Amino acid sequence: MTPSRHFALIPAAGVGARMGAECPKQYMPLAGKLMLVHVLDTFASCPSIAHTYVVVSKEDGYIDEALAGAKHLADRVTVLHAGGPTRHQSVLNGLHAMRADATDNDWVLVHDAARPGLTGELIDRLIGAVKNDPVGGLLALPVVDTLKRGNAEGRADATVPRDGLWAAQTPQMFRYALLRTALEKATEVTDEASAIETLGLKPKLVEGSPRNFKITLPHDVALAELHLKGNP
Ligand code: CTP
Ligand code: MG
Repeated sequence: MTPSRHFALIPAAGVGARMGAECPKQYMPLAGKLMLVHVLDTFASCPSIAHTYVVVSKEDGYIDEALAGAKHLADRVTVLHAGGPTRHQSVLNGLHAMRADATDNDWVLVHDAARPGLTGELIDRLIGAVKNDPVGGLLALPVVDTLKRGNAEGRADATVPRDGLWAAQTPQMFRYALLRTALEKATEVTDEASAIETLGLKPKLVEGSPRNFKITLPHDVALAELHLKGNP
């Protein structure tokens, strides 16, 4: 049997409404490089990743220029103009578009374009922990804060026990066929692991890193630059 390969699939078809920048946030410069290029460089320089697919919207007017400034990525990255109205749809469309290149058993690592803090070490940690797993898994962080359930008046109704709670990150790594089936069946999910869970399967939780946080709001930018300048 051919050994399974590892492909990266990067959903990058969002508009970045909460960031409110002039362009979609994945095209913002951060510590001297576009946010998306940080992510693509990290996967491109990871020997265990066979190839990277990036899903952008059909009308994306930024990707060509972004890659023109990153010629070293030319044979490591394929652009799929297959974005959908939600992240779920963008990932599923991306899986369909890469069908000819992947076998059912190949692994797909889905990673948000908005998490430029990912490192090769974190990718290797995830692959190492999941490569022999029948289900797959994801990077996540154990919750450390005390959690409150707020009511409509903005007051704490209760303290929620945090035992066993993790905050999900990406990459989320599943075999091609299982992931596609799960996402086709799921109605609306915010990550791949929840689609897998709806099949009754239990994805493996692998400890990620605070630096791999998702850039969502304008105040996230300064912290991301701090991390990326320290370890570009
Ligand atoms: N994404 C996507 N297709 C969509 C929506 C989101 O590929 N229709 C991608 C984003 O580009 C991002 C990742 O999914 O890399 C995580 O989404 P999020 O952080 O919510 O980004 P946006 O949807 O762009 O931001 P916002 O929700 O503030 O508009
Ligand atoms: Mg969004």
